Amino acid sequence: MQHWLDKAVFYEIYPQSFQDSNGDGTGDIPGIISRLDYIKNLGCDAIWLNPCFLSPFNDAGYDVADYYTVAPRYGSNEDLKNLFTEAHARGIHVLLDLVPGHTSVEHHWFKESMKPEKNKYSSRYIWTDDIWKPVDGLNTLRGISARNGSCILNFFSSQPALNYGFYNVTESWQDTVDSPAACATIEAVKDVMRFWLKAGCDGFRVDMAGSLVKNDPDGLGTIALWKKIRSFLDREFPEAVLISEWGEPDKSLEAGFHMDFLLHFGPSHYNDLFRCENPFFSSEGKGDVYAFVEKYKESRRKAEEGLICIPSGNHDMKRLAHRLSEKDMKTAFVFLLSMPGAPFIYYGDEIGMRYLENLVSVEGGYERTGARTPMQWDDGVNAGFSTAVPDKLYIQQDESKDRPTVASQQNNPDSLFNEVKRLISLRRVHPALQNKSGIDFVYAEKNKYPLAYIRKCPEENLLVVINPSSSRVEFKTEKTGDLISKGILYSTGGEGSIENGIVKIPPCSASIFII
Ligand code: GLC
Repeated sequence: MQHWLDKAVFYEIYPQSFQDSNGDGTGDIPGIISRLDYIKNLGCDAIWLNPCFLSPFNDAGYDVADYYTVAPRYGSNEDLKNLFTEAHARGIHVLLDLVPGHTSVEHHWFKESMKPEKNKYSSRYIWTDDIWKPVDGLNTLRGISARNGSCILNFFSSQPALNYGFYNVTESWQDTVDSPAACATIEAVKDVMRFWLKAGCDGFRVDMAGSLVKNDPDGLGTIALWKKIRSFLDREFPEAVLISEWGEPDKSLEAGFHMDFLLHFGPSHYNDLFRCENPFFSSEGKGDVYAFVEKYKESRRKAEEGLICIPSGNHDMKRLAHRLSEKDMKTAFVFLLSMPGAPFIYYGDEIGMRYLENLVSVEGGYERTGARTPMQWDDGVNAGFSTAVPDKLYIQQDESKDRPTVASQQNNPDSLFNEVKRLISLRRVHPALQNKSGIDFVYAEKNKYPLAYIRKCPEENLLVVINPSSSRVEFKTEKTGDLISKGILYSTGGEGSIENGIVKIPPCSASIFII
């Protein structure tokens, strides 16, 4: 089974911006292969690769025109297989990004579907039967072909929704979830999964996983759909890992996903930590972690076996460094790398790459563009990302003189990079810190600092205390009454102490106690 997931630490690669190997200004697969040793050295043993398939790139590749072909700008299918082989040789697993909710308007299924004559793909997408009749609550694409009807959209106007049926059917043009059309779409998605799993990938991060079935307010139709896919995988590819972009672990883990992300949308209060006006992980000390922890505890109660992942960021949100200073990011990473669930590090967050404001949108990025800038490796041309002339780069790079780079941080023992690396290696050797070990919150009070929790497993118990605020803080609770520190396993920004049940912790610091 997927035992590797129990210890996995992921690295998310946005292929456009990681490493360009041929000087065209856009990252590519051979470039990624050339940096696998870096990822391994950081301590990550799994990769999530954003979509790398044929696409007009109106949404950075989330508008797939052919699920079976790698976009030429990234290389060939052979290059992708080679990435799997090279990654596996280093003990690194690779998840591809599966976009099952929609395709690009350029996909041949859609071109066939637009035709007025009935054909195999007429119901692959969701079409109304009268172009003049507005559709309540769903965006549509209209007047684009001789077919009389409007086509339901999933995201941008160039991303028509694939047809998985409606949970509650209210119009004659809506199919049920077990209609032949909905079943045919599921089979088509299984074929895509089969193809890449056979080629050597280790599973998928699934895009917009929670919204496949329409008019499905409680997600029951979509949950049932994923259960079917999961049982197909259990039969044919029992090793394959499925991770959802859903943002509601109680639903997605029930649906058969191994892990769900907490995200900048959804009910998790993820933004309270790093991305709101007063984030918890800020030395300003005005944040509030309470609602996040309460929701997290509730999700864990419901999620049973599955993993809940708190990513450092991703290609859809502003970077950690947007609101957090380097000091803040150090305490944030103690949290990110000591919580249950597999950690996900968005490329460049390990060096605190900045979010660039006000960039002109590239490939449907809009305000996301500033979080997708090319990786900063060293002091060379384009920070070692590409040999292209700077205005050919996929997205403009951070041009500030003091921009963080891998090379400068690797040489500095106090850098964020080295802290992230130390934390990952600590997680590797301490089972209590790993993905499936337990957690017991000790201190997470409304508008108060610090945050404290015990990570536990049969072999050991560790108390993690994190105080991002610039004030020294202390606390005592029923749970700390008889706690005795047997030593500090890790600290950043100063060491805390436990005496007579009182936990004291310096400003902008975190300590992991052996208890
Ligand atoms: C997901 C992706 C995002 C994309 C959208 C539509 O949220 O992460 O980048 O634009 O889905 O596919």
